[in-house]
Amino acid sequence: MNILLTGGAGYIGSHACVVLLEAGHDVIVVDDFSNSSPEALVRIEGIAGKPFAHYRVHLADRPALRAVFEAHPVDAVMHFAGFKAVGESVEKPLLYYWNNVTGTTVLLETMADFGVRNIVFSSSATVYGDTDRVPTDELCPAAPTNPYGRSKWMIELMLQDLFRSDPSWHMAILRYFNPVGAHESGLIGEDPNGIPNNLVPYIAQVAVGKREWLRVFGNDYPTRDGTGIRDYIHVMDLVEGHLAALDKLAAGPGFDVYNLGTGKGTSVLEMVAAFESASARKIPYRILPRRPGDVAVSTADPTRAQRELHWQARRDIHDMSRDTWRWQMQNPDGYGRNG
Ligand code: UFG
Repeated sequence: MNILLTGGAGYIGSHACVVLLEAGHDVIVVDDFSNSSPEALVRIEGIAGKPFAHYRVHLADRPALRAVFEAHPVDAVMHFAGFKAVGESVEKPLLYYWNNVTGTTVLLETMADFGVRNIVFSSSATVYGDTDRVPTDELCPAAPTNPYGRSKWMIELMLQDLFRSDPSWHMAILRYFNPVGAHESGLIGEDPNGIPNNLVPYIAQVAVGKREWLRVFGNDYPTRDGTGIRDYIHVMDLVEGHLAALDKLAAGPGFDVYNLGTGKGTSVLEMVAAFESASARKIPYRILPRRPGDVAVSTADPTRAQRELHWQARRDIHDMSRDTWRWQMQNPDGYGRNG
């Protein structure tokens, strides 16, 4: 199939690009490189050993996006593009709504104009907000707590309304838990801009000597060691879930929502221990107060994806730590954007 990937140079998109090429699909990447590097595309081509088309386009640039659809037959879209920093979204809500929601609106209009009605959308477990329902299944009501999460939820609602108006669409909404890890080659991985917000990239930078110590945000949560528990999922498992979703789209029209997680929770200190063992480095840390907005525990109930997509995460936190470490060691400055 011909698959158009928005945000194909980003963290998840780049890994999806590799597995799609390796599965024999043709890929067209659209990315504005606002939070990614063209170098990722060079690396992807090296891993997959197969060239693919790519364009520097912002989704809200309608003429440029139309030109891509005119130049290529597209069977399905995997929509990864979007801003994703919670704190920044609180400071610049309009930027997030414009980039994420407006960009998606133009994408969907363009798809409809060109008769492309297959889409896999990257949503987030963040749409559940601060829920007591843990592990969380897809029927848990959405209650996002910040503009980033609300932009994802607004897109889900938009897709739902579009499907109601035209049930010939094939839509799969994938709610990611905490993606970590990297391709086993160590050639592509997560390349955070500036100081990492997320735990695993931060730990990796401490291990490699770029940062002195990890700030552990709170050890007074009602969890087994007092630190926050999350459902970390290896990015390769995650993108394999997208291949499974593509098969589901091929089965017929529909609007389906799936959690992509492992169902297993790992605490901050357990992740530190796993990373110390994978890297054979000590990760110094200090306990700080809780980070505002954090919840104690977030884990997925991935039963629906197992049942309907015949997909299950296979990699554990040791695989995640080992692969993150390989990427970090081989690329101490990521793709080189941060100098
Ligand atoms: N943590 C630390 N130190 C750090 C970073 C994180 O102790 O330097 C802790 C957090 O308090 C939390 C856990 O590590 O307990 C995981 O934090 P992350 O920032 O890695 O992940 P979150 O679960 O907070 O973030 C995820 C997604 C976001 C999403 C958010 C919604 O990565 O995209 O959930 O809350 F928006």
